[in-house]
Amino acid sequence: MINFKKSPPLPRAPIADPTLTRPARYLGAERHPSLFKLDWNENADPDLIRLVGDVLQAIPPEAASVYPNLPPLYQKLAGHLGVDRDRIALAAGSEGAIRQIFEAFVDPGDVVAISQPSFGMYEVYVHMFGATLAPLPYEKTVAGPVLSAGKVIATIQKQRPKLVFLPNPDSPTGTVFNEEDLRTIIEVTGESGGLITIDEAYFPFYEETVLPWTTEYEHLIVLRTTSKAWAMAGLRIGYAVSAPTIIEAIQKVRPMFEVNSIAVEVFLRMLDHYEDVLAAVQRLNAGKEYFCAEMGRLNFMTFPCAGNFQHVAFGESAEKVHAALASIVSYRTDSDMPGLEGFSRFSTTTVEQFKPIVAAIKQAVGSSAEEVAK
Ligand SMILES: Cc1ncc(COP(=O)(O)O)c(C=O)c1O
Repeated sequence: MINFKKSPPLPRAPIADPTLTRPARYLGAERHPSLFKLDWNENADPDLIRLVGDVLQAIPPEAASVYPNLPPLYQKLAGHLGVDRDRIALAAGSEGAIRQIFEAFVDPGDVVAISQPSFGMYEVYVHMFGATLAPLPYEKTVAGPVLSAGKVIATIQKQRPKLVFLPNPDSPTGTVFNEEDLRTIIEVTGESGGLITIDEAYFPFYEETVLPWTTEYEHLIVLRTTSKAWAMAGLRIGYAVSAPTIIEAIQKVRPMFEVNSIAVEVFLRMLDHYEDVLAAVQRLNAGKEYFCAEMGRLNFMTFPCAGNFQHVAFGESAEKVHAALASIVSYRTDSDMPGLEGFSRFSTTTVEQFKPIVAAIKQAVGSSAEEVAK
């Protein structure tokens, strides 16, 4: 190492702050290839995964050697969503859009309201951009985690955040706000001069959407992603839909090309297969229903989760269940997040693929042989 007598500069203060931490996935343990992956809320529908694979194979190899051709995708997506092209900003995952919203709108010290727990990157960006957090905390109740609309409204009225981020369904809780509450929250944010992002990463596992309201409210941004319902998490395409003025600001801070060529070509073709996406969503939602019913028969608590994932509390059997599943499936064990303490989380899969998992759980808790076979 050459010694220049002076140390290299420190990162910006919010980045140097030791409380800003990120899981170093590239350094950590690999996800074991033999385990069924139900830990990151990806799409686990075998038919849809195969279809995306087929589409990928049909992409001309030149796609990898050229920069992306984006206008056809903007055009086709606009048609698919029924919105004008200048109301859409594509990004590298919906997370890319979240970052661009921070870059475009958040000055140090600005107040940003986010639910807690929520998708982890929200809080990372609050720190990175030197914003002040206005937390919207879930409470643990006997019916599962609860964040009341009243509490959200009171926080917005009191702290007047510049930005409110509310996933609907929320992640990781899986809870939803109904249409009436969402409208009030959006209007209260507008009255206090803020912007609100409703993150619909789990559309259409949960079909209610406020996307059409983006023509009604200039301060509303809706986020969607192809990482969940479209089985394209590895390709990282998300997008924001909002008023043209907001989209213009988000576009100003995009990278040179917002999405890579392969992702563009695959999504362009997958837009012709929306029926297949919806069929996969149905199969995965049916799998979730089956899993919940089976967990209920074993007296394990579940609560309605509107995303492609399900929480279950194994209670005193947790250790036995985790030991039995360790060699079969990776999932999130025993959360310590507010409102979710003691719950384990599984991404949703099909009934067929849930069956061996359910059988292993039954065996672990000593169900009879006939019960296990059901
Ligand atoms: C609520 C929510 N928003 C955004 C994301 C990020 O998704 P993407 O892969 O599109 O960046 C996730 C991922 O789990 C999520 O749960």
